[in-house]
Amino acid sequence: MSRSARLVPAWVSALTAAALTLTACGAGDGEGAVRGTPGGAGVRDPYFPKAGNGGYDVGHYDLRLSYDPDTDHLSGTAGITARATQDLSAFDLDLKGLDVEAVTVEGRAARFHRTGQELTVRPHGGLDKGETFKAEVRYSGTPRTLTDADGSEEGWLRTADGAVALGEPIGSMTWFPGNHHPADKASYDITVTVPDGLEAVSNGELRKQETGEAGTTFSWHTAEPMASYVATLAVGDYDIHRSTAGDLPVYTAVRHGESAKALARLPEIMEWGEENFGPYPFSSTGAVVGGEDDAEYALETQNRPFFPGAPDTALLVHELAHQWFGDSVTPRSWRDMWLNEGFATYAEWLWEEDEGGDSAQDTFDQLYAEGEDEYPDLWLFPPAEPSGAAHLSDDPVYQRGAMVIQKIRQTVGDDTFYDIVQGWTAAHRHGNADTDDFTEYVEQQAPDEDFDAIWDEWLYGEGKPARP
Ligand code: TRP
Ligand code: ZN
Repeated sequence: MSRSARLVPAWVSALTAAALTLTACGAGDGEGAVRGTPGGAGVRDPYFPKAGNGGYDVGHYDLRLSYDPDTDHLSGTAGITARATQDLSAFDLDLKGLDVEAVTVEGRAARFHRTGQELTVRPHGGLDKGETFKAEVRYSGTPRTLTDADGSEEGWLRTADGAVALGEPIGSMTWFPGNHHPADKASYDITVTVPDGLEAVSNGELRKQETGEAGTTFSWHTAEPMASYVATLAVGDYDIHRSTAGDLPVYTAVRHGESAKALARLPEIMEWGEENFGPYPFSSTGAVVGGEDDAEYALETQNRPFFPGAPDTALLVHELAHQWFGDSVTPRSWRDMWLNEGFATYAEWLWEEDEGGDSAQDTFDQLYAEGEDEYPDLWLFPPAEPSGAAHLSDDPVYQRGAMVIQKIRQTVGDDTFYDIVQGWTAAHRHGNADTDDFTEYVEQQAPDEDFDAIWDEWLYGEGKPARP
């Protein structure tokens, strides 16, 4: 069994279930017996127990939105096509802030109720296990910015000329209702109307751009499964550039007045990524470069990573590497964050090595010898068990996570190492994976090696490992 088997303590689940029973509405309203039970307010993520919802699986989001930066008013409809995974008397969506005007399920008005981030919907007559249904939520308001446990801001961020939506880990619930946990990936249509002269940039491919009475409407389509935390929308004054990298469409948006020289290397980095990590998992690529004050960090938003100001090459490599590690192979829970950040950081080391700079082993050795100088928290907790939601983006997840990857490379040698990396991205392409899946995969691919010491000391061990 896994060393990481414990999820949330039972009392947390019990409390959540009790809260749902108390707040559920419409019981005894004369509709007759409704089959099934409520789906549950959360998927028991060890770090974000209320994120996501039980009882259904979303297949597609169809967001039709309007946004005007002058008023900071967002309005529209979220169409959510999902399949019930149990008989459901009610199900939850996650939504923070905003006003819900109406909810329908299968075209019929549904009762709904809100408590905190939970929007509980009671479909008329309930839903049967296995049934595919479409829910529509009409909503509007001024979206919120959230402050994370680590103090950083996410969700809906105002910019000088508009706004940008950044959703890691839970910010996407500030701009659309959904099953906001990485375990439930879906395809998306994101259609956004903005005042003429502004751009609306999102994930996937731009299918249509049309100017009408209400403004300009941009229709973005994402066919490949996407986790909601990497869904994005940037509205503002951007310079758009379209090109290709090999056969792949490239769409970049650079805030008017910013310059982003590193983007010239994007096609080269994509090709390098495919050589090292395997086939690129999506149908288009690109980047969004906003203003320096837009956010405190870059984010690997799918197809089109977001950068607050011009990225350097290393950051561009990091966010593009996330397209394989994070966006295509997505953590099963927030505990598995090191699989994202360890690999994306390791990609920076590999790029430097391939560019003729320090080898990844050099970088590893320097970190082992004196990593505390630059990264004081480096040895504070093991990569696979972050010490709380406030620490998901700390040094042990990034740098020590990358050190775990280098330990594997040391053990198996380059040929097997690259087979493992490419085999891993192929095995879980467009899916979810956790740390146990990873360690088991590595062991299968190199059956003659013993990885126990690496897992025990580097991945799960407290403190600095005794030997490099
Ligand atoms: N994933 C981002 C990156 O490294 C950083 C980041 C943004 C992040 N928001 C976060 C990490 C929230 C953890 C939690 O490219
Ligand atoms: Zn990252």
